[in-house]
Amino acid sequence: MHVAIIMDGNGRWAERRGLPRSAGHRAGARAVRRIVEAATRAPVDVLTLYAFSSDNWSRPPQEVASLLRLLKRYLVSETARCLENGVRLNVIGRRDRLSPDLVRTIEQTELLTRGGQNLQLRLAVDYSARAAIAHAAVLTRGAPCSPQEFERKLAEAVHSDVGVPVDLLIRTGGERRLSDFLLWECAYAELVFVDSFWPDFDETGFDAALREFARRDRRFGGLSRALPPSYSRAE
Ligand code: IPE
Ligand code: IPE
Ligand code: MG
Repeated sequence: MHVAIIMDGNGRWAERRGLPRSAGHRAGARAVRRIVEAATRAPVDVLTLYAFSSDNWSRPPQEVASLLRLLKRYLVSETARCLENGVRLNVIGRRDRLSPDLVRTIEQTELLTRGGQNLQLRLAVDYSARAAIAHAAVLTRGAPCSPQEFERKLAEAVHSDVGVPVDLLIRTGGERRLSDFLLWECAYAELVFVDSFWPDFDETGFDAALREFARRDRRFGGLSRALPPSYSRAE
């Protein structure tokens, strides 16, 4: 099962406490640790977390810098825990606008954790679904290709080794929109919107979202309990 999460609400969480937005992002990083651990205990094979969108570059430079610093610190400090828990880490998105130092850290973490069998953790950084789809189209060089081949190009476009459809998309923070996240992969995703801000999201909330997903009747355009259509079926 593939779960994707739009981790939203760090800034508002901090503002409510009279704290700077960067404090909200730090609290958000603690929530990431909790939810990754919860996912390793749940029947989740792939967890994709939206950490920094391509449109987030438009925030004030200090906020962008604090987010990217936090990401680097997370990668360095979590490698050991990933190895212990069988977590394979993969950063998806563009890399050409990240600092060479951050790219090196990403590559090292991916290399060290590549044997993880329990959970694939994908962090979306400088990620835009529309840019990824446009890039995948360029990679096909105009040649006709099967849906499965196109999904491989889409994965390649964002430095991912799998292109699996999303089963459950969770967004915290009360907004009900996709904000350019996994537009292709979410074709038949079940959507769960949660009002709590990301730093307050915990295992109880995660389990509740999984239970809500289990109650949904997925039809994929068919009548009941149908198989996913070829575009969203993992090979
Ligand atoms: C989500 O929290 C984290 C990122 C987008 C990087 P926000 O920073 O968007 O928090 P709000 O939505 O302003 O509360
Ligand atoms: C989406 O949240 C991006 C991440 C969670 C990384 P935003 O806060 O950037 O989205 P909008 O601006 O509310 O659509
Ligand atoms: Mg937000």
